[in-house]
Amino acid sequence: MEVVKSILLLGRQPGLGLAELESLYGADTIVPLGKGVAGCCLPAKEIDFTRLGGSIKLTDVIGTIENTEWRAIEKVLLKLVPITATSLEEGKIQLGLSLYGIEAGLKDIQATALRLKKVIRTKTDQSVRVTPNKTPALSSAQVIHNHLTGPRGLEIVLIKVGSITYVARTVAEQDIESYAQRDQNRPKRDARVGMLPPKLAQIIVNLSVANTDPTLGGIVLDPFCGTGVVLQEATLMGFDIYGTDIEPRMVEYTDKNLMWLLDQPNNLISRPSEYRDNTSWRYFSLEVGDATSHTWKYSPETYAGIACEGYLGQPFNAFPSEEKLREVTNTCNQIMKGFLKNIYPQIQSGTRLCVALPAWHRPNGRFEHLKLLDSLEELGYNRVDLEHVRAKDLLYYRPDQVVARELLVITRK
Ligand SMILES: C[S@@+](CC[C@H](N)C(=O)[O-])C[C@H]1O[C@@H](n2cnc3c(N)ncnc32)[C@H](O)[C@@H]1O
Repeated sequence: MEVVKSILLLGRQPGLGLAELESLYGADTIVPLGKGVAGCCLPAKEIDFTRLGGSIKLTDVIGTIENTEWRAIEKVLLKLVPITATSLEEGKIQLGLSLYGIEAGLKDIQATALRLKKVIRTKTDQSVRVTPNKTPALSSAQVIHNHLTGPRGLEIVLIKVGSITYVARTVAEQDIESYAQRDQNRPKRDARVGMLPPKLAQIIVNLSVANTDPTLGGIVLDPFCGTGVVLQEATLMGFDIYGTDIEPRMVEYTDKNLMWLLDQPNNLISRPSEYRDNTSWRYFSLEVGDATSHTWKYSPETYAGIACEGYLGQPFNAFPSEEKLREVTNTCNQIMKGFLKNIYPQIQSGTRLCVALPAWHRPNGRFEHLKLLDSLEELGYNRVDLEHVRAKDLLYYRPDQVVARELLVITRK
């Protein structure tokens, strides 16, 4: 078996995080290590963490311990961590400990942290500040505010996997502020078309392009662009983007939101000044179009992936009557099936699509899926079989939500 060099802690819906990692890095590179934890055979520096919507923490493995008892772990930490600390930049060291699945009281964690502080100080001659644990694992906010991923930061993460403890060092933590800004500060939002979280949009793009090589480039097409969250995330990853929507107002919203994004001081996208007047500039193209009949203007081989959140029907606060449900599922099914039929001759064989479809969460816990899932073969598509995640686990929802999003990942035959 390959050696696990880095570990990612996955978000609230770990199946999605795992699927995203498998799509980008390949099934053989990713090793599921238990609920919410993914091992990776690449070192952390080779992982493009900022584009991952389903991972909350990226760590480099610095050791393994064949024991999960806190006393035994502490013994190893007192030897291992000071050595790691010598590689930090000079200055006051920020230390933190985060435990996943390992049993130890907060007092024990604190006591270990203070012992570590002492040995690190002796070894490096630098002063050390410990971030106190309110919970066994520090929160993202604590990691960020205490600069634990900075040049003098040292968050040691301990993860129990069976009878082994992985000792890892945090390299990156999800940038909660940037996500909030991308989500809430956009000038145009629309509660009716729904609020696609940027993290889920990233997952959708990653499942569709399934590649991390930025030199491959290509266009990400969203035929249901709404307010443009998928396109926003695709452009931040460096793709050219192309969006269409049946409603002119939505196309206008996407345009306004993307213009806002380009004007953000910290965004990494450079916009050629002539792009607005140059109609052949495809970096950012938008137009009104019904996805069931539209002719998209670029040739089939230009698409890096088709990524979208399709038509989800109306939102529900409570589960609807069977009659109402039939009506909504039929409408959604018709539109989404019409779209798959229409785009088929316009993309080349092998093109990958990730489409968020609605699935209705019944009070008995079961899901009502769109019928088109049973006729993908006839429509000319193969479902992508992921090794580590079952297709039926690619669902995104909160427990109280009636309409879930089901991520359908397919390739054109
Ligand atoms: C769930 S929303 C997508 C929201 C989008 N992800 C965003 O970031 O705001 C679905 C969108 O599909 C559009 N739509 C509905 N029927 C359509 C059709 N036949 N063709 C193209 N767009 C359609 C709606 O106008 C709506 O903007």
